[in-house]
This record gives sequence, structure tokens and C-alpha cells, in this order.
Amino acid sequence: MRQAELKVLVVDDDPDMLLGCEQAFQLDGRATMGATSVEKALKLIRSELPGVIVTDIRLPDRDGLSLLAEIQTIDPDLPVILITGHGDVALAVQVMKSGAYDFVEKPFLPEYLVDVVRRALEKRALTLEVRALRHQLRDQNRLKERIIGHSAGIDRLRRLIAEIADTQAPVMIHGETGTGKELVANCLHEASGRRGRFVAINCGGLPESLVESELFGHEPGAFTGATKRRIGKIEYANGGTLFLDEVDSMPMSVQIKLLRVLQERTLERLGSNAAVPVDCRIVAATKEDLVQMAEAGRFRADLYYRLNVVTLKLPPLRQRREDVRLLFEHFVQLSCAMHGRPAPEIHPAKFQQLIAHVWSGNVRELRNVADRFVLGIEMGFPPFATADAALLSLPEAVDAFERAMIADALRKHGMNLSQAAIALQIPKTTLHDKMRKLGLGTE
Ligand SMILES: Nc1ncnc2c1ncn2[C@@H]1O[C@H](COP(=O)(O)OP(=O)(O)OP(=O)(O)O)[C@@H](O)[C@H]1O
Ligand SMILES: [Mg+2]
Repeated sequence: MRQAELKVLVVDDDPDMLLGCEQAFQLDGRATMGATSVEKALKLIRSELPGVIVTDIRLPDRDGLSLLAEIQTIDPDLPVILITGHGDVALAVQVMKSGAYDFVEKPFLPEYLVDVVRRALEKRALTLEVRALRHQLRDQNRLKERIIGHSAGIDRLRRLIAEIADTQAPVMIHGETGTGKELVANCLHEASGRRGRFVAINCGGLPESLVESELFGHEPGAFTGATKRRIGKIEYANGGTLFLDEVDSMPMSVQIKLLRVLQERTLERLGSNAAVPVDCRIVAATKEDLVQMAEAGRFRADLYYRLNVVTLKLPPLRQRREDVRLLFEHFVQLSCAMHGRPAPEIHPAKFQQLIAHVWSGNVRELRNVADRFVLGIEMGFPPFATADAALLSLPEAVDAFERAMIADALRKHGMNLSQAAIALQIPKTTLHDKMRKLGLGTE
């Protein structure tokens, strides 16, 4: 929170004093709140944590010192400035011993009090900044345990997640199959601190007639077969996160309704006109190019822009081969624990094959390979196609790697040699030679 957003709470039972103080702070550009008793002050402090509290020590219900003690149980770093009677030295000493930020003796010049408050606010802003950084660091460490990888792409992904997790911003996750879209959505929810549920809905897995009632819920009698009231997924995710998986396959008719919910933050169950308020963070995932789909009229552009406030792009595994080893070791460990098997030794040649593989099924495919490896049944399955391929020489491994990268570039560019050469950053003639040498035809 920036310093300008931190409010000053003034507590005094004398209305003239209260008004005078608030005005002095407002002239200094601060937002203020006022309370005339300890109880009222505590209520305000609990509902909207102010930046600094200035309180008279003599109050009608309890004294300022007991307010100070109570504030310290809410947030011990919240600066409290007490206003004491003239010449009350013993009290002033006690105030400072009790952990007040400062005290100001009556009578005082308003400028003096404004100055003390200014310093206290600076300190408060710094405390909050340090706290926010510490939170982010803690989130990032937790994310490191869940999202494995040390490639630049994954590092960036974890940083972004930690940065945006506690905002309201809708997130669009883009990535091929098995790249970890659902995992990332889950991590976003976990790091958001939202107390509601994580609710996932697969927009492609339901017939059109059911998507609507799944999402919005329905009242009894809304349609034939609707005998009881049903709470929809959006409502179920209230206070939490709604994960719209395969959002590209959401029927157009449902897209309009979802857009309305996002705009108005309320929904109507099928068969009802009552607006139910909803507060859920929307995370959507897709493998498709939604901009292209919108241009082709197969996805609503307005919904796309609503959903795509933050974009998280999950790189395919073949573009971050440096993560393969780490991921494989991680999944082998998990699998061993699950099957109660001792960890088998991983021969370096195996890593070469793993690294050279194309991984069209991405991390999910790698996870399956690790499972088979732990169970000792990996031979005959890619990337361990044959038994004798397990021991590659360096030139063989280099060939395998080259072959994988070239085949991948060709596939991605529809077998167009010129485009593949550009993507691989080599001249077209070199690509041609390599393909001949590696026995890669243009089939
Ligand atoms: N970086 C990663 N670290 C650890 N596990 C991962 C990582 N990425 C993916 N996984 C794991 O791989 C598997 C596939 O991930 P997930 O289901 O999230 O992929 P997806 O993108 O939703 O796939 P699909 O598009 O097919 O639904 C899961 O078991 C997930 O936990
Ligand atoms: Mg998924």
C-alpha cells in the first residue's frame, strides 16, 4: 500500500479537538477517520486497518493506554501516538514503555503533531513494504516446491504468479496439452489467500444444454427434470477461484451470459430473476489461439478481452529442455513414494534420451515415463524405444538431439523448410544437409 492510501485515525471524545486534528491532517494531504471512544476506534481499526492512530489518553469508556494494548494484539507494528496532559511526566514514560510510537503533550502546535504523524506514516509504509516483500518471497518458495523447473520461462512464470496472485485480475493461461495449466491455476488460487473454494469446470466436457445449469445453477422447474434448486459452479466458487478449463469450447450462448456475470458481478440462476452477487477470481485456460478464434467469429472478442487481463504462457517442454532432468527426478521420487519402491539409479544415457525427446505430451508425458521407469517397464516405450538405445555415445546423443529439434521445427512449420530454418536460426542449405545426414526425409 502506498503512503498516500494510509489513513490517520484520530480518537478523541472532544468533538472540537477531533475536528481540528482531522482538518490539520487533511490539509497535509492525508485521509482521516475519527472515533469518539475506544470501542468505536477498535471497530474502525478492525474493519479498515489505518496507517497511524492518534489518540487522547483520556477517553470516556477506557483510557488510551488500554486502546494501545488492544491495538498491539491486532498489529504490534501499528504506530500509535498518544496525546497526554501537560506535565504528566510519569504517564509519558509509561506510554513510551508500553510501545507507543510517540506522545505529544497538550497544548501542542498542530504543525508539530502533523510532523510526528508524517514520520509515523513513513515508518508504517516501510513496514508494510517489507511485509509484502516477505509474503511474496514465501509464496515464491512455496511455488518452487509445486512448479518444478529452473528454465528462465518457469522462473518468470513463478515470479508472475507470486506478483498477481492476490489481485482480482482475471488470468488467461495458455499452453499445449500437459504443460501444467491446471497446476498453475491451482497455485494461483493457493497463493491468492482467497478463502473460498477452487472450482474447476471443463467447458468442453459438457453438452451445451448442461453447461448453463452447471455454471449458473437453476431453480426447481427451470426446465424438465429440474426438480430441486441447484447451486451453479460460479456461485459455488464465491470467495474463491473459478477455473474455466478449455474455455475455447464454451458455447457462444453461454459466453454472452458469462460476460454479463463478469461485468455485473451478479448472476441469475436459470428460472429465476433474482440477482445473486458473486465474487470469484476467474482463471481460464486454453490450448487455442483465441484471437484467431475471435477473428473467425468462433469466440466472443469482448469476452476474450475480459478474461485476458493477465496472460500466463506456459512454454512447451521441448523449448525448455533444461527442465527435463529436474522434472524427471522429481516425478521418479513421487512415483517411488507412491508405489513404495526404492529409487532406481538413473543412467546418464537415459537422461540423454529424455533430453532429446520431443515431448509432444509435455510434462504429463514425462510424468508417465517416470512412472514406467520406476515400475521397470519403460523399455519399448518412447523415448526408450529399444534396449540397446539406452547407451548412446556422445555423437549419437547429439544426433538424437538434432533430429528432435529439427523434426519439431518442421512439424511446427507445416514441413516448410524455409520457415523451419528461420526458427532454428540456421541457413536453409545447412538444414537440408542435416536432414539428409540424419535421414530425415520430407515425408
Ligand atoms: N512445472 C511442473 N512441475 C511439476 N509438475 C508439473 C509441472 N507442469 C505440469 N506438471 C504436472 O503434469 C501433469 C499435467 O499438468 P496439467 O494437468 O496441469 O496440464 P494441463 O496443461 O492442464 O494439460 P491439458 O491441457 O491436457 O489439460 C500434472 O500431473 C501436473 O501436476
Ligand atoms: Mg488441464
